[in-house]
Amino acid sequence: MLIQIEGVLTPDQLAQCRQALQGQDWVDGRVTAGEQSARAKHNLQVPEDAPAARELGDLILTALGRNPRFVSAALPLRVFPPLFNRYDQGMAFGTHVDNAIRFAKTSGGPVRFRTDVSATLFLTDPADYDGGELIVEDAYGEHAVKLPAGDMILYPATSLHRVAPITRGSRWAAFFWAQSMVRADAQRSLLFDLDNAIQDLSVKVGQDDPAVVSLTGTYNNLLRMWSEV
Ligand code: NI
Repeated sequence: MLIQIEGVLTPDQLAQCRQALQGQDWVDGRVTAGEQSARAKHNLQVPEDAPAARELGDLILTALGRNPRFVSAALPLRVFPPLFNRYDQGMAFGTHVDNAIRFAKTSGGPVRFRTDVSATLFLTDPADYDGGELIVEDAYGEHAVKLPAGDMILYPATSLHRVAPITRGSRWAAFFWAQSMVRADAQRSLLFDLDNAIQDLSVKVGQDDPAVVSLTGTYNNLLRMWSEV
């Protein structure tokens, strides 16, 4: 399931990100690609260990930790430190599936984790570039995603996806992965739908209504059955 999360960053945080990224040394994006995807990838990235990338990554992780929609949709166990990429005119990323296992550099050494949820946080106003849609394939076909700056899309890391060529301007984004407590997208989607329905119902009938109490119990018992922590 593709899930849009609006306003992950405030306008001030967005401006801070863009200003910090302006002065970075962008390198060939193939440094973080697997063998197949390296052949399809044509973009620029801020090096993973650049201090600015770490600092902006922390800002994004803090914002995500406070975002109930992200937590409900991704059910994150671990979130990979965000990376930053840029597609200038003529750049694109052909169809690929992201690597299943990645190593994140942490202060305690590299940590290996599984990518269950892929995320792209848009940092450029869509009016400032043409092309550059993130195109995700699923059982229902292809979905082209181009969001306002500060908004984010989550999609299953199992999906084939690509970034359409940029025909004008430059598209900047943060991207990262989460290992979820619930590995299967179908199960995460059911839990997300159930959580949203419970929230809506509790607004209408109150949190103490027996139906809300019962459904909340069902949510927790499904999470207990399906999660790995
Ligand atoms: Ni990808």
